[in-house]
Amino acid sequence: MAQQLSLDSFIPQDTDMEPAGGGAKILVVDDEERNCKLLNAVLVGQGYTVNIATDGMEALAAVAQERPDLILLDVMMPRMDGFQVAERLKANPETHYIPIIMVTVLDDRASRLRGLEAGATEFLSKPIDRAELTVRVRNMLRLKAYGDFFANCSHALENKVLQRTAQLRGSYVESIFALTRAAEYRDEETGAHVQRISHYTQTLAQELGMDESFSDCIFYASPMHDIGKIGVPDHILLKPGRHTAEEWEIMKTHASLGAKILEGSTSPFLIMGAEIALSHHERWDGTGYPRGLKGEAIPLAGRIMSLCDVYDALRSRRPYKPPFDHEKAMAIITQGDGRTLPEHFDPDVLAAFGRRTERFREIFEWYDSN
Ligand code: C2E
Ligand code: SIN
Ligand code: SIN
Ligand code: SIN
Ligand code: FE
Ligand code: FE
Repeated sequence: MAQQLSLDSFIPQDTDMEPAGGGAKILVVDDEERNCKLLNAVLVGQGYTVNIATDGMEALAAVAQERPDLILLDVMMPRMDGFQVAERLKANPETHYIPIIMVTVLDDRASRLRGLEAGATEFLSKPIDRAELTVRVRNMLRLKAYGDFFANCSHALENKVLQRTAQLRGSYVESIFALTRAAEYRDEETGAHVQRISHYTQTLAQELGMDESFSDCIFYASPMHDIGKIGVPDHILLKPGRHTAEEWEIMKTHASLGAKILEGSTSPFLIMGAEIALSHHERWDGTGYPRGLKGEAIPLAGRIMSLCDVYDALRSRRPYKPPFDHEKAMAIITQGDGRTLPEHFDPDVLAAFGRRTERFREIFEWYDSN
């Protein structure tokens, strides 16, 4: 991993981070053929690559051969049960990072506790509910993508840490901790979105002449801007159309909720993360939320984030909108479309964006997850 945090160092190469829709590898372990077939059909239908093992020994052999991104593990199996398989995988430093969803009919507290002890990350009850399966799998893969991304970051940081004391390392661990609290977070995005956000915000920080510590900090802090969406119910977050006034009030709480999740830490990433979460929907002209701050009363990191967030949202597919091309996104930001107006953005940030739009296009296209 290069010391310089260049774009190249985060292009998924030999990492097992999967861009959205990119066929993450899932190992299904179940001794009942009917269950394997059902899980296989659903997951393959969603573009995942599925491998099947019909007992614990076979599962361990399969993992030794090829590391899956996620394991769906039945509990009751002959020879070696799911708890034992999980324990073995978690005890091995080569495989302990692989998330495990335990599939069980035993949904009593005791067996869940036993599963957690064995290292299960998540549970799914039999009979399998398709919607639940879909959401759990997506969540776990997303979380794994975060983990991989931050693990990469920690490598990149390591050289500097040698000089900069162990404080950053502690910060990194705290960051992971905060992110895992987002386990319930759900939408279709994976690590690609996170990486784009990091690179846009870093680009603008540098273009604005901010020093390296600010640019590095915003790189790590900005992906957490929407973490408060974990507190917004699915029927609101994923609504295909416009919100009612009441729903919109709930939607807007994601800003302050995110700040609450991240605040109270001494990690510079999390401090800035909380500040960004709270202020990324404020607008320069004072028409934003949650506080209606105006101009320089909005922290710079929030002003930078706001433009990057809008650019990325415009380019992306959302439950409520199709993706737009670079030219359309740029036109909306620089000329306005009624909903978004140039007055919403810090003029300096807007000018910096104007000088680096090709870089934005490049970053989006590198990590396109539509
Ligand atoms: P998000 O999807 O990440 O969008 C972030 C910001 O990008 C939006 O902040 C808005 O400023 C801008 N943006 C997104 N799509 C468009 C668009 O089609 N046209 C224009 N001009 N700007 C766009 P905003 O409005 O504060 O929304 C915050 C979050 O609320 C959004 O985050 C999204 O999760 C949700 N949201 C906003 N509108 C809708 C909607 O109509 N339906 C649903 N289901 N969610 C919505
Ligand atoms: C996001 O910003 O990643 C979430 C978009 C959404 O589904 O509302
Ligand atoms: C995102 O904006 O979708 C990534 C960070 C988060 O999970 O909130
Ligand atoms: C929405 O219906 O969620 C959008 C509300 C707005 O941007 O005013
Ligand atoms: Fe937001
Ligand atoms: Fe956003």
